[in-house]
Amino acid sequence: MVNTFEQLEEQIKGCKKCKLCNNRNNIVLDDGNRNAKVMFIGEGPGADEDAQGKPFVGKAGKLMNQAFKGIGIKREDVYITNIVKCRPPMNRNPEKDEADACLDYLRAQVLLVKPKIIVLLGNVALKTILGSEYGITNTRGKWMEKKDILYLPTFHPAALLRDETKKIYFWNDLKELKKRMENL
Ligand code: URA
Ligand code: SF4
Repeated sequence: MVNTFEQLEEQIKGCKKCKLCNNRNNIVLDDGNRNAKVMFIGEGPGADEDAQGKPFVGKAGKLMNQAFKGIGIKREDVYITNIVKCRPPMNRNPEKDEADACLDYLRAQVLLVKPKIIVLLGNVALKTILGSEYGITNTRGKWMEKKDILYLPTFHPAALLRDETKKIYFWNDLKELKKRMENL
């Protein structure tokens, strides 16, 4: 049990619970506001994130920032993290054993931040948090409540880079999020 972010960060820095520890340059814990009402969960660090020790600072992050700006969401007002805290090699998806090994840290983050809304970015976050029976194409945009937290699954911003037609859905989901944020 950790009581502070400092303790959590120390634990993760020394973590060898899965094989992703072998190639990391930096752990990637979080960015944004640790008291936010809204938490975003991505997949795992890429090369830029691993180099800088911060989530969503590469191409996908820049696209997310653009969407935030257009919709009026401030990065400083939300909390941003990932399923795994160390970079998977070749930017592959985290494997189930890696996601499972890392999940206690995410649980600690949720206890510390106490978000009212959690945005699940893409299939890895969706399946790890809500269950492998879900798929992002069918579930995105559908709000779900579990243990007093509202979940919003949406596309991962990297998916928008591969397929432009997904942008409008991501955009609409964030607009809906913005409306709900105003009433929190
Ligand atoms: N993709 C993610 O899922 N997380 C990051 O931090 C960056 C890219
Ligand atoms: Fe530990 Fe998570 Fe890094 Fe694996 S990904 S070594 S569980 S911090």
